[in-house]
Amino acid sequence: MTAMADQDSITRAADLLARASRVVAFTGAGVSAESGVPTFRGAGGLWEGHPVEQVATPEAFAADPLMVWRFYDQRRVNLAPRRPNPAHQVLAGWQERFASFVLATQNVDSLHEDAGSREVLHLHGSIWRVRCCRCQEEREDRTAPFPALPPRCPCGGLLRPAVVWFGEALPMDVLETAMVAAERCEVLLVVGTSAVVYPAAGLVEVAAGAGAAVIEVNPQASALAWLANVALRGPAGEMLPRLQEALAARTS
Ligand code: OAD
Repeated sequence: MTAMADQDSITRAADLLARASRVVAFTGAGVSAESGVPTFRGAGGLWEGHPVEQVATPEAFAADPLMVWRFYDQRRVNLAPRRPNPAHQVLAGWQERFASFVLATQNVDSLHEDAGSREVLHLHGSIWRVRCCRCQEEREDRTAPFPALPPRCPCGGLLRPAVVWFGEALPMDVLETAMVAAERCEVLLVVGTSAVVYPAAGLVEVAAGAGAAVIEVNPQASALAWLANVALRGPAGEMLPRLQEALAARTS
């Protein structure tokens, strides 16, 4: 059992945000949970009995591209009709509210953009992009489901999802931009992530180490919850609107 965030925690989080001009939000699968997107490590987080760490790897793709594509094709089919929830919407609104607001996500869906967020830092790529293993061309492709798996490039090469797999490097420019923002921010919001996958989770350590206040929004404590100044224990789709309301009341 986890207790829902009390109003005192909401007030403390709103106090921190009301004083801040440089804010970073770092999101994970939990921010999309209320849109109907399964998380990786929660109940139902297994794919045909495999943990995600065994499916989302270059080795798994080399050994069995069909199995890996069935996983991604099913995720794409499930994602296609999903809509942003109030958590995505509050975060999109905050880009206008703070002098600097940087949104870095581990999610490969496009729900932050669908809610209106711009210049989202996609640390783990996008499930809506594919890259050819032969000619290396990368492009957006929203086909879901693919008529035949595994899908192929016009050049004949095997396509792969343009996401970052375990054992692969994150896009260097994206990671660096996020790290610099984390180092400079006054408040870091950590929303819906178990904070166990590095280097992305390192953003929390960098921000906290540089003196930022950390607000965690998650029904469960993440692996880095001990770094949080305030924890809002509840679903992001409820907690962020409550926080937004408290913030609006303070500055109106
Ligand atoms: P996880 O599945 O590891 O964690 C999801 C988190 O969301 C958990 O801490 C849940 O408690 C929390 N959660 C569940 N419902 C929520 C809700 N309604 N509101 C807020 N939080 C909620 O997902 P990530 O931390 O995103 O990487 O996983 C990190 C990376 O591991 C992913 O980007 C992906 C995965 O393997 C790659 O594919 C490379």
